[in-house]
Amino acid sequence: MEVRSESVHVRCEKLPAPVIPRTRLQVWFIRVCSSILLWTCLVQLVAVGELWHPHLLSNITSRISQITQLPLHVEVAVQTPPSLLPARNYTSNGFLIVSCNGGLNQMRAAICDMVAVARFLNLTLVVPELDKSSFWADPSNFHDIFDVRHFIDSLRDEVRIIRRLPKRYNRKYGFIPLEMPPVSWSNEKYYMEQILPLFSKHKVLHFNKTDARMANNGLPLELQKLRCRVNFRALKFTSQIETLGYKLVHILQGKGPFVALHLRYEMDMLAFSGCTHGCTEGESEELKQMRYAYPWWRDKEIDSKLKRSQGLCPLTPEETALVLKALGFDKETQIYIAAGEIYGGERRLAALRAEFPQIVKKETLLAPEELQQFQNHSSQMAALDFMVSVASNTFIPTYDGNMAKLVEGHRRYLGFKKTILLDRKRLVELLDMHHNGTLPWDEFIVSVQSAHDKRMGQPNRRKVIADKPKEEDYFYANPQECLCEGTSCDDLLSPGNSSKLG
Ligand SMILES: *[C@@H]1O[C@H](CO)[C@@H](O)[C@H](O)[C@H]1NC(C)=O
Ligand SMILES: *[C@@H]1O[C@H](CO)[C@@H](O)[C@H](O)[C@H]1NC(C)=O
Ligand SMILES: *[C@@H]1O[C@H](CO)[C@@H](O)[C@H](O)[C@H]1NC(C)=O
Ligand SMILES: *[C@@H]1O[C@H](CO)[C@@H](O)[C@H](O)[C@H]1NC(C)=O
Ligand SMILES: *[C@@H]1O[C@H](CO)[C@@H](O)[C@H](O)[C@H]1NC(C)=O
Ligand SMILES: *[C@@H]1O[C@H](CO)[C@@H](O)[C@H](O)[C@H]1NC(C)=O
Repeated sequence: MEVRSESVHVRCEKLPAPVIPRTRLQVWFIRVCSSILLWTCLVQLVAVGELWHPHLLSNITSRISQITQLPLHVEVAVQTPPSLLPARNYTSNGFLIVSCNGGLNQMRAAICDMVAVARFLNLTLVVPELDKSSFWADPSNFHDIFDVRHFIDSLRDEVRIIRRLPKRYNRKYGFIPLEMPPVSWSNEKYYMEQILPLFSKHKVLHFNKTDARMANNGLPLELQKLRCRVNFRALKFTSQIETLGYKLVHILQGKGPFVALHLRYEMDMLAFSGCTHGCTEGESEELKQMRYAYPWWRDKEIDSKLKRSQGLCPLTPEETALVLKALGFDKETQIYIAAGEIYGGERRLAALRAEFPQIVKKETLLAPEELQQFQNHSSQMAALDFMVSVASNTFIPTYDGNMAKLVEGHRRYLGFKKTILLDRKRLVELLDMHHNGTLPWDEFIVSVQSAHDKRMGQPNRRKVIADKPKEEDYFYANPQECLCEGTSCDDLLSPGNSSKLG
């Protein structure tokens, strides 16, 4: 009950009736006056600006058109501030605090889910906290990565989002929120029946884990669409990240079409997965030690061979070189490596570099000073790679982690841009056969190509497996509910149509 009075307080509903019209009139009057004043100033400024810097405006205009030409779905802040949508009028049932866990892309999906939960339960959402203690240990806050103003404003017609919990609910004042992780892969009934009632006793709930807390399928269409709206429109990187991301994209596009290769051959991945194919004995030992050092990585003894044969290992740089070549990429292909440090460094990249001399990464395209401010912030570095990957002509992930899935979904949204979804189980078989001489190169090429002609990010339906959400297609990799606006999904998704759009 008290929570309800909180929201009443916010919206001034309980003001004595006769006061309302006067107050509103005053507010309206002040607004009109200040708008006129602002406009006058602005017109003056523009006029003066034009006198003194006649090319200033045309510069801005050309920048806008340059930016809008980019195949990225990001609105740019240099334009006039967007007019705000009217805020949704609802009685808040309480405050939701969320602490996201994991890397940038896992958190991104979680933020979309949590906005949907807050909307569905009529809650007030506090701007999510990001994970600072994960493997990546990035101290960035939400506002260091995302444009928080845009996030709040662009969703105001759906849900109220505030930057901080009101003071009286602070722990400092002895207020303890109810802390819990919601059950993984839950549907809207769980949130309505199990979570909403908790707010009548506790005014504030703190979800202390957020990865994969919403089902892929079977949710109401409005919720699925809201998850997309947050992902594709409300989450915009900060202008610092966007500026540098666009710069990378411009440099690459200036040299022609390019492939973004998410070469997930990084130390944490190998230690966590136990995939040591192609590593020296010393390296295997080092990876194992790292695995034992992280208590929350549960599997300690891993059979690398078995795992690889099941298609559960990222491709090695050497394997990747052969696969790309078999897929038809040649020495001229510009390849951007969207990843952190490759395990084994240049030594492990040698085979890939020999086949594809035009390999670049952000460190080779930008000056050290430009990257410096992002250097110790893995999520901000990942944001740059995300932007480049979304904008690339072809995106190829060597492992299907969160980055691979989120970028895949984003590219589908931008018109089914080509994403090559490697069939690692099949590829490992083919690679081994090629290596032991039972599959000659020509046949290797044919087999690799035929294994992938339907895995190019074409329109298709998400695979649904009842009661096994982990094995289903991930919602964010193929948010089909959001991909067919203005056209009939059934046409677009019909098998006869798929190849044309690929
Ligand atoms: C919000 O909705 C309530 C109930 O429908 C209504 O009484 C109130 O005037 C609305 N407030 C605003 C600011 O529109
Ligand atoms: C949310 O608010 C709307 C009115 O804005 C109301 O129709 C709906 O029942 C509310 N839902 C919950 C879960 O409070
Ligand atoms: C989340 O809260 C629950 C209940 O207080 C606690 O048992 C659990 O350890 C917490 N998890 C994290 C990741 O903080
Ligand atoms: C990044 O962190 C390392 C080690 O903590 C430190 O030596 C280096 O100066 C930092 N770099 C920047 C640009 O802050
Ligand atoms: C070659 O490798 C494949 C795949 O691992 C295996 O099935 C086959 O038996 C091997 N053949 C020879 C001659 O070693
Ligand atoms: C393919 O999709 C387009 C666009 O929705 C539609 O006009 C066309 O009829 C579809 N073709 C088939 C064979 O479904």
